[in-house]
Amino acid sequence: MEKLRKMVNQIAYTPPQERFYTLSALQLSLIPLLSLASTLYGFALPLRHRLYQLGLLHTDRLPVPVISVGNLTWGGNGKTPMVEFLALWLAAAGISPLILTRGYGGADEAKMLQRHLYGTPVKIGVGANRAVTAASFLKRYGHISPCKHGNTDLGRLFSDNKKGNSSCCDQIGVAILDDGMQHISLWRDVEIVMVNAMIPWGNHQLIPLGPLREPLTALARADIVVIHHANLISEKDVEAIASEMRTVKNSLPIFLSRLAPLYFLKARNMSHKLALMDICSTLVLCVSAIGSAESFVETIKKLGPTYVDRLDFSDHHLFQAKDIDMIRMRLRNLQSDFAMKPIVVVTEKDYDRAPEVLTYLDPYEVLVLCSCLQILPHKGSTEETFKKCLWQHLEVSCKV
Ligand SMILES: *[C@@H]1O[C@H](CO)[C@@H](O)[C@H](O)[C@H]1NC(C)=O
Repeated sequence: MEKLRKMVNQIAYTPPQERFYTLSALQLSLIPLLSLASTLYGFALPLRHRLYQLGLLHTDRLPVPVISVGNLTWGGNGKTPMVEFLALWLAAAGISPLILTRGYGGADEAKMLQRHLYGTPVKIGVGANRAVTAASFLKRYGHISPCKHGNTDLGRLFSDNKKGNSSCCDQIGVAILDDGMQHISLWRDVEIVMVNAMIPWGNHQLIPLGPLREPLTALARADIVVIHHANLISEKDVEAIASEMRTVKNSLPIFLSRLAPLYFLKARNMSHKLALMDICSTLVLCVSAIGSAESFVETIKKLGPTYVDRLDFSDHHLFQAKDIDMIRMRLRNLQSDFAMKPIVVVTEKDYDRAPEVLTYLDPYEVLVLCSCLQILPHKGSTEETFKKCLWQHLEVSCKV
Protein backbone atom coordinates (compact mmCIF):
# COMPACT_ATOMS: atom_id res chain seq x y z
CA MET A 1 0.00 0.00 0.00
CA GLU A 2 2.82 2.32 0.99
CA LYS A 3 4.55 1.55 -2.31
CA LEU A 4 1.41 2.22 -4.33
CA ARG A 5 0.81 5.49 -2.49
CA LYS A 6 4.39 6.59 -3.22
CA MET A 7 3.99 5.74 -6.90
CA VAL A 8 0.73 7.63 -7.25
CA ASN A 9 2.18 10.56 -5.33
CA GLN A 10 5.10 10.72 -7.74
CA ILE A 11 2.75 10.73 -10.71
CA ALA A 12 0.77 13.57 -9.15
CA TYR A 13 3.84 15.75 -8.79
CA THR A 14 5.46 14.99 -12.18
CA PRO A 15 4.69 17.45 -15.00
CA PRO A 16 3.10 15.58 -17.95
CA GLN A 17 6.01 16.43 -20.30
CA GLU A 18 8.48 14.72 -17.95
CA ARG A 19 6.43 11.55 -17.45
CA PHE A 20 8.19 9.41 -20.01
CA TYR A 21 11.67 9.71 -18.61
CA THR A 22 10.95 9.97 -14.86
CA LEU A 23 8.17 7.43 -14.30
CA SER A 24 8.41 3.65 -14.37
CA ALA A 25 6.53 1.46 -16.88
CA LEU A 26 4.16 0.41 -14.12
CA GLN A 27 3.45 4.03 -13.21
CA LEU A 28 2.82 4.90 -16.85
CA SER A 29 0.39 2.00 -17.12
CA LEU A 30 -1.58 3.42 -14.19
CA ILE A 31 -2.11 6.82 -15.84
CA PRO A 32 -5.17 5.91 -18.02
CA LEU A 33 -7.00 4.50 -15.01
CA LEU A 34 -6.10 7.49 -12.84
CA SER A 35 -7.17 9.85 -15.65
CA LEU A 36 -10.56 8.23 -15.87
CA ALA A 37 -11.03 8.44 -12.11
CA SER A 38 -9.97 12.13 -12.13
CA THR A 39 -12.47 12.89 -14.89
CA LEU A 40 -15.32 11.21 -13.01
CA TYR A 41 -14.33 13.08 -9.85
CA GLY A 42 -14.27 16.33 -11.85
CA PHE A 43 -17.85 15.72 -13.00
CA ALA A 44 -19.16 14.90 -9.53
CA LEU A 45 -17.60 17.89 -7.79
CA PRO A 46 -19.42 20.88 -9.37
CA LEU A 47 -22.64 18.92 -9.07
CA ARG A 48 -22.20 18.71 -5.30
CA HIS A 49 -21.49 22.46 -4.99
CA ARG A 50 -24.48 23.23 -7.20
CA LEU A 51 -26.77 21.16 -4.99
CA TYR A 52 -25.63 23.15 -1.95
CA GLN A 53 -26.04 26.46 -3.81
CA LEU A 54 -29.57 25.55 -4.78
CA GLY A 55 -30.29 24.62 -1.19
CA LEU A 56 -31.06 21.02 -2.12
CA LEU A 57 -28.41 19.81 0.30
CA HIS A 58 -28.60 21.17 3.81
CA THR A 59 -26.02 23.68 5.13
CA ASP A 60 -25.63 23.95 8.90
CA ARG A 61 -25.09 27.43 10.26
CA LEU A 62 -23.50 27.93 13.69
CA PRO A 63 -24.56 30.79 15.98
CA VAL A 64 -20.96 32.11 15.96
CA PRO A 65 -18.81 33.26 13.00
CA VAL A 66 -16.86 30.44 11.32
CA ILE A 67 -13.35 30.76 9.88
CA SER A 68 -12.49 27.89 7.55
CA VAL A 69 -8.87 26.92 6.90
CA GLY A 70 -8.54 24.66 3.89
CA ASN A 71 -6.45 23.53 0.97
CA LEU A 72 -6.82 22.46 -2.60
CA THR A 73 -4.12 19.81 -2.57
CA TRP A 74 -3.13 17.12 -0.12
CA GLY A 75 -0.37 17.35 2.39
CA GLY A 76 1.79 19.81 4.29
CA ASN A 77 0.37 23.19 3.53
CA GLY A 78 0.35 24.64 7.01
CA LYS A 79 -3.34 24.20 7.79
CA THR A 80 -2.87 23.09 11.36
CA PRO A 81 -0.24 25.76 12.20
CA MET A 82 -2.62 28.37 10.74
CA VAL A 83 -5.47 27.06 12.89
CA GLU A 84 -3.23 27.39 15.95
CA PHE A 85 -2.11 30.89 14.92
CA LEU A 86 -5.73 32.05 14.59
CA ALA A 87 -6.79 30.40 17.85
CA LEU A 88 -3.99 32.03 19.86
CA TRP A 89 -4.67 35.41 18.31
CA LEU A 90 -8.40 35.30 19.08
CA ALA A 91 -7.85 33.95 22.60
CA ALA A 92 -5.36 36.72 23.36
CA ALA A 93 -8.02 39.21 22.31
CA GLY A 94 -10.55 37.77 24.71
CA ILE A 95 -12.57 35.84 22.14
CA SER A 96 -12.78 32.17 23.04
CA PRO A 97 -12.33 30.04 19.90
CA LEU A 98 -13.59 26.53 19.20
CA ILE A 99 -11.46 24.51 16.78
CA LEU A 100 -13.35 21.89 14.81
CA THR A 101 -11.09 19.21 13.42
CA ARG A 102 -11.77 15.87 11.82
CA GLY A 103 -8.85 14.16 13.53
CA TYR A 104 -7.89 11.62 10.87
CA GLY A 105 -4.65 9.64 10.71
CA GLY A 106 -4.60 8.80 14.41
CA ALA A 107 -5.67 12.36 15.27
CA ASP A 108 -2.02 13.46 15.26
CA GLU A 109 -2.92 17.03 14.32
CA ALA A 110 -5.42 17.26 17.16
CA LYS A 111 -2.78 16.06 19.65
CA MET A 112 -0.34 18.72 18.52
CA LEU A 113 -3.01 21.40 18.88
CA GLN A 114 -3.88 20.09 22.33
CA ARG A 115 -0.26 20.27 23.52
CA HIS A 116 0.38 23.75 22.11
CA LEU A 117 -2.90 25.19 23.32
CA TYR A 118 -2.90 23.60 26.75
CA GLY A 119 -3.74 26.18 29.41
CA THR A 120 -5.37 28.61 26.92
CA PRO A 121 -9.13 29.16 26.62
CA VAL A 122 -9.08 27.48 23.18
CA LYS A 123 -11.42 24.49 22.88
CA ILE A 124 -10.75 21.64 20.46
CA GLY A 125 -13.62 19.56 19.12
CA VAL A 126 -12.56 16.37 17.32
CA GLY A 127 -15.03 14.51 15.11
CA ALA A 128 -15.90 13.84 11.49
CA ASN A 129 -19.28 15.55 11.73
CA ARG A 130 -18.26 19.11 12.60
CA ALA A 131 -21.82 20.35 13.02
CA VAL A 132 -22.56 17.70 15.64
CA THR A 133 -19.25 18.32 17.45
CA ALA A 134 -19.88 22.06 17.41
CA ALA A 135 -23.39 21.64 18.77
CA SER A 136 -22.17 19.67 21.78
CA PHE A 137 -19.46 22.27 22.62
CA LEU A 138 -21.84 25.19 22.13
CA LYS A 139 -24.34 23.54 24.43
CA ARG A 140 -21.70 22.91 27.08
CA TYR A 141 -20.00 26.33 27.06
CA GLY A 142 -22.60 28.60 25.56
CA HIS A 143 -21.70 31.22 22.99
CA ILE A 144 -21.34 34.94 22.64
CA SER A 145 -21.19 36.83 19.37
CA PRO A 146 -17.85 38.63 18.97
CA CYS A 147 -19.82 41.27 17.12
CA LYS A 148 -21.44 42.21 20.40
CA HIS A 149 -18.09 42.88 22.06
CA GLY A 150 -18.05 46.30 20.41
CA ASN A 151 -14.92 48.25 19.76
CA THR A 152 -13.05 47.18 22.86
CA ASP A 153 -12.25 43.73 21.54
CA LEU A 154 -11.60 45.02 18.09
CA GLY A 155 -8.93 47.23 19.57
CA ARG A 156 -7.45 44.36 21.51
CA LEU A 157 -7.25 42.20 18.39
CA PHE A 158 -4.67 44.55 16.98
CA SER A 159 -2.80 45.74 20.05
CA ASP A 160 0.44 44.08 21.10
CA ASN A 161 -0.96 43.83 24.58
CA LYS A 162 -1.33 40.07 24.94
CA LYS A 163 -2.49 39.90 28.53
CA GLY A 164 -6.07 39.59 27.26
CA ASN A 165 -6.51 35.99 28.42
CA SER A 166 -7.65 37.02 31.85
CA SER A 167 -10.88 38.49 30.57
CA CYS A 168 -11.50 35.71 28.06
CA CYS A 169 -14.77 34.10 28.90
CA ASP A 170 -15.60 30.47 28.43
CA GLN A 171 -18.41 31.23 26.03
CA ILE A 172 -17.41 30.40 22.47
CA GLY A 173 -17.03 33.44 20.22
CA VAL A 174 -15.65 32.05 16.94
CA ALA A 175 -15.36 28.58 15.39
CA ILE A 176 -12.29 27.64 13.36
CA LEU A 177 -12.84 24.87 10.85
CA ASP A 178 -9.72 22.78 10.24
CA ASP A 179 -9.65 21.38 6.70
CA GLY A 180 -12.94 23.05 5.91
CA MET A 181 -12.60 23.87 2.21
CA GLN A 182 -14.37 20.73 1.02
CA HIS A 183 -16.57 20.49 4.10
CA ILE A 184 -19.19 22.70 2.49
CA SER A 185 -22.10 21.39 4.53
CA LEU A 186 -21.12 23.89 7.27
CA TRP A 187 -21.62 27.60 6.59
CA ARG A 188 -18.42 29.68 6.89
CA ASP A 189 -17.90 33.45 7.09
CA VAL A 190 -14.27 33.49 5.97
CA GLU A 191 -12.51 30.98 3.72
CA ILE A 192 -8.73 30.90 4.12
CA VAL A 193 -6.93 28.67 1.62
CA MET A 194 -3.40 27.48 2.37
CA VAL A 195 -1.11 26.77 -0.57
CA ASN A 196 2.20 24.96 -0.26
CA ALA A 197 4.78 27.14 -2.03
CA MET A 198 7.10 24.21 -2.72
CA ILE A 199 4.56 22.10 -4.65
CA PRO A 200 1.59 24.40 -5.27
CA TRP A 201 -0.49 22.24 -7.63
CA GLY A 202 1.69 19.29 -8.70
CA ASN A 203 0.72 18.30 -12.26
CA HIS A 204 -2.46 20.46 -12.16
CA GLN A 205 -4.70 17.37 -12.30
CA LEU A 206 -7.54 16.35 -9.99
CA ILE A 207 -7.11 13.41 -7.63
CA PRO A 208 -6.16 10.63 -8.07
CA LEU A 209 -4.11 11.44 -11.20
CA GLY A 210 -2.92 14.66 -9.58
CA PRO A 211 -2.94 16.19 -6.10
CA LEU A 212 -5.81 18.66 -6.62
CA ARG A 213 -8.92 18.02 -4.57
CA GLU A 214 -10.63 20.72 -6.63
CA PRO A 215 -9.72 22.60 -9.83
CA LEU A 216 -7.91 25.94 -9.34
CA THR A 217 -11.14 27.75 -10.16
CA ALA A 218 -12.26 26.75 -6.65
CA LEU A 219 -10.05 29.63 -5.49
CA ALA A 220 -12.96 31.86 -6.49
CA ARG A 221 -14.58 30.74 -3.22
CA ALA A 222 -11.53 31.81 -1.18
CA ASP A 223 -11.48 35.09 0.77
CA ILE A 224 -7.80 34.97 1.68
CA VAL A 225 -4.95 32.85 0.35
CA VAL A 226 -1.76 32.16 2.27
CA ILE A 227 1.28 30.82 0.44
CA HIS A 228 2.95 28.70 3.09
CA HIS A 229 6.69 27.89 3.13
CA ALA A 230 7.14 31.02 0.99
CA ASN A 231 10.58 31.55 2.59
CA LEU A 232 11.79 28.38 0.84
CA ILE A 233 11.19 29.52 -2.75
CA SER A 234 12.42 32.46 -4.82
CA GLU A 235 10.61 35.78 -5.15
CA LYS A 236 10.04 34.97 -8.82
CA ASP A 237 8.30 31.69 -7.93
CA VAL A 238 6.16 33.46 -5.32
CA GLU A 239 5.06 35.92 -7.99
CA ALA A 240 4.30 33.11 -10.43
CA ILE A 241 2.03 31.35 -7.93
CA ALA A 242 0.36 34.63 -6.96
CA SER A 243 -0.33 35.68 -10.54
CA GLU A 244 -1.72 32.26 -11.43
CA MET A 245 -4.16 32.58 -8.54
CA ARG A 246 -5.08 36.12 -9.57
CA THR A 247 -6.20 34.84 -12.97
CA VAL A 248 -8.92 32.99 -11.05
CA LYS A 249 -9.79 35.87 -8.72
CA ASN A 250 -8.09 39.18 -9.27
CA SER A 251 -9.07 40.73 -5.95
CA LEU A 252 -7.76 37.82 -3.87
CA PRO A 253 -5.72 39.01 -0.86
CA ILE A 254 -2.53 36.92 -0.85
CA PHE A 255 -0.24 36.58 2.18
CA LEU A 256 2.99 34.66 2.73
CA SER A 257 3.87 32.50 5.69
CA ARG A 258 6.59 30.23 6.97
CA LEU A 259 6.97 27.63 9.66
CA ALA A 260 9.30 29.14 12.24
CA PRO A 261 11.17 26.60 14.37
CA LEU A 262 10.75 27.32 18.09
CA TYR A 263 12.60 24.65 20.09
CA PHE A 264 13.12 20.88 20.45
CA LEU A 265 11.53 18.50 22.94
CA LYS A 266 13.11 15.20 23.91
CA ALA A 267 10.89 12.37 22.64
CA ARG A 268 11.52 10.38 25.81
CA ASN A 269 10.60 13.30 28.07
CA MET A 270 8.38 15.85 26.40
CA SER A 271 8.83 18.27 29.31
CA HIS A 272 12.51 18.58 28.44
CA LYS A 273 13.08 21.53 26.10
CA LEU A 274 16.27 22.10 24.08
CA ALA A 275 17.26 25.27 22.26
CA LEU A 276 17.49 25.20 18.45
CA MET A 277 21.23 25.86 18.54
CA ASP A 278 21.78 22.71 20.61
CA ILE A 279 21.99 20.64 17.42
CA CYS A 280 24.76 22.84 15.99
CA SER A 281 27.81 20.68 15.03
CA THR A 282 25.95 17.40 15.57
CA LEU A 283 25.17 14.59 13.14
CA VAL A 284 21.43 14.52 12.37
CA LEU A 285 19.09 12.02 10.73
CA CYS A 286 15.74 13.63 9.84
CA VAL A 287 12.92 11.08 9.83
CA SER A 288 9.52 12.25 8.67
CA ALA A 289 6.19 11.15 7.22
CA ILE A 290 4.73 14.53 6.37
CA GLY A 291 3.61 16.32 3.23
CA SER A 292 6.58 18.65 3.16
CA ALA A 293 9.67 16.71 4.20
CA GLU A 294 11.75 19.01 2.05
CA SER A 295 11.08 22.11 4.12
CA PHE A 296 11.57 20.21 7.37
CA VAL A 297 15.02 19.04 6.27
CA GLU A 298 15.93 22.52 4.98
CA THR A 299 14.97 24.02 8.33
CA ILE A 300 17.19 21.56 10.20
CA LYS A 301 20.12 22.19 7.82
CA LYS A 302 19.95 25.91 8.61
CA LEU A 303 20.48 25.19 12.30
CA GLY A 304 24.07 24.22 11.58
CA PRO A 305 24.58 20.48 12.12
CA THR A 306 27.80 19.00 10.70
CA TYR A 307 25.80 16.73 8.40
CA VAL A 308 22.09 16.10 7.82
CA ASP A 309 20.79 12.80 6.43
CA ARG A 310 17.12 12.04 5.78
CA LEU A 311 14.55 9.27 5.56
CA ASP A 312 11.18 10.33 4.12
CA PHE A 313 8.00 8.32 4.31
CA SER A 314 4.71 9.33 2.68
CA ASP A 315 2.26 11.61 4.49
CA HIS A 316 0.45 9.98 7.44
CA HIS A 317 2.57 6.80 7.15
CA LEU A 318 2.38 4.54 10.20
CA PHE A 319 5.82 3.35 11.30
CA GLN A 320 6.29 -0.40 11.50
CA ALA A 321 8.99 -2.73 12.78
CA LYS A 322 10.73 -2.88 9.41
CA ASP A 323 10.85 0.93 9.24
CA ILE A 324 12.50 1.02 12.64
CA ASP A 325 15.05 -1.55 11.43
CA MET A 326 15.76 0.61 8.42
CA ILE A 327 16.19 3.73 10.57
CA ARG A 328 18.51 1.85 12.95
CA MET A 329 20.61 0.60 10.08
CA ARG A 330 20.94 4.12 8.67
CA LEU A 331 21.99 5.37 12.11
CA ARG A 332 24.65 2.66 12.47
CA ASN A 333 26.02 3.49 9.02
CA LEU A 334 26.15 7.19 9.84
CA GLN A 335 27.90 6.49 13.10
CA SER A 336 30.59 4.44 11.40
CA ASP A 337 31.01 6.91 8.51
CA PHE A 338 31.37 9.98 10.70
CA ALA A 339 32.78 8.42 13.88
CA MET A 340 30.20 10.27 15.95
CA LYS A 341 26.80 9.36 17.32
CA PRO A 342 23.91 10.70 15.23
CA ILE A 343 20.71 12.07 16.70
CA VAL A 344 17.26 11.58 15.20
CA VAL A 345 15.07 14.63 14.59
CA VAL A 346 11.36 14.20 13.86
CA THR A 347 8.45 16.60 13.47
CA GLU A 348 5.76 16.89 16.08
CA LYS A 349 3.27 15.36 13.67
CA ASP A 350 5.38 12.23 13.43
CA TYR A 351 5.86 12.08 17.16
CA ASP A 352 2.14 12.32 17.80
CA ARG A 353 1.33 9.63 15.29
CA ALA A 354 3.56 7.05 16.97
CA PRO A 355 5.27 8.24 20.17
CA GLU A 356 5.95 4.69 21.40
CA VAL A 357 7.71 3.64 18.20
CA LEU A 358 10.44 6.19 18.68
CA THR A 359 11.47 4.68 21.99
CA TYR A 360 12.72 1.65 20.02
CA LEU A 361 15.51 3.81 18.67
CA ASP A 362 17.55 3.53 21.88
CA PRO A 363 20.37 4.34 22.49
CA TYR A 364 20.03 7.17 19.94
CA GLU A 365 18.56 10.46 21.12
CA VAL A 366 15.28 11.46 19.44
CA LEU A 367 14.38 15.16 19.31
CA VAL A 368 11.01 16.57 18.30
CA LEU A 369 11.00 19.89 16.43
CA CYS A 370 8.26 22.30 17.52
CA SER A 371 7.32 25.16 15.20
CA CYS A 372 4.73 27.87 14.75
CA LEU A 373 3.34 29.75 11.77
CA GLN A 374 4.59 33.25 11.03
CA ILE A 375 3.17 35.71 8.51
CA LEU A 376 6.05 37.06 6.43
CA PRO A 377 6.14 40.76 5.55
CA HIS A 378 5.88 41.08 1.78
CA LYS A 379 4.95 44.06 -0.40
CA GLY A 380 3.00 45.84 2.30
CA SER A 381 1.32 42.67 3.58
CA THR A 382 2.14 41.97 7.22
CA GLU A 383 0.78 40.03 10.15
CA GLU A 384 -1.11 43.21 11.04
CA THR A 385 -2.77 43.57 7.63
CA PHE A 386 -3.56 39.84 7.59
CA LYS A 387 -5.44 40.15 10.89
CA LYS A 388 -7.22 43.30 9.71
CA CYS A 389 -8.30 41.60 6.50
CA LEU A 390 -9.66 38.66 8.47
CA TRP A 391 -11.45 40.90 10.91
CA GLN A 392 -13.09 42.87 8.10
CA HIS A 393 -14.62 39.64 6.81
CA LEU A 394 -15.91 38.74 10.26
CA GLU A 395 -17.33 42.23 10.69
CA VAL A 396 -19.16 42.05 7.38
CA SER A 397 -20.80 38.83 8.46
CA CYS A 398 -21.72 40.46 11.80
CA LYS A 399 -23.74 43.04 9.93
CA VAL A 400 -25.69 40.51 7.89
C1 LIG B 1 12.00 15.52 32.22
O1 LIG B 1 12.53 16.80 31.99
C2 LIG B 1 12.24 17.74 33.01
C3 LIG B 1 12.76 19.09 32.53
O2 LIG B 1 14.07 19.05 32.13
C4 LIG B 1 12.89 17.27 34.30
O3 LIG B 1 12.62 18.20 35.32
C5 LIG B 1 12.33 15.91 34.65
O4 LIG B 1 12.99 15.41 35.78
C6 LIG B 1 12.53 14.94 33.49
N1 LIG B 1 11.84 13.69 33.78
C7 LIG B 1 12.40 12.51 33.66
C8 LIG B 1 11.56 11.33 33.98
O5 LIG B 1 13.57 12.37 33.33
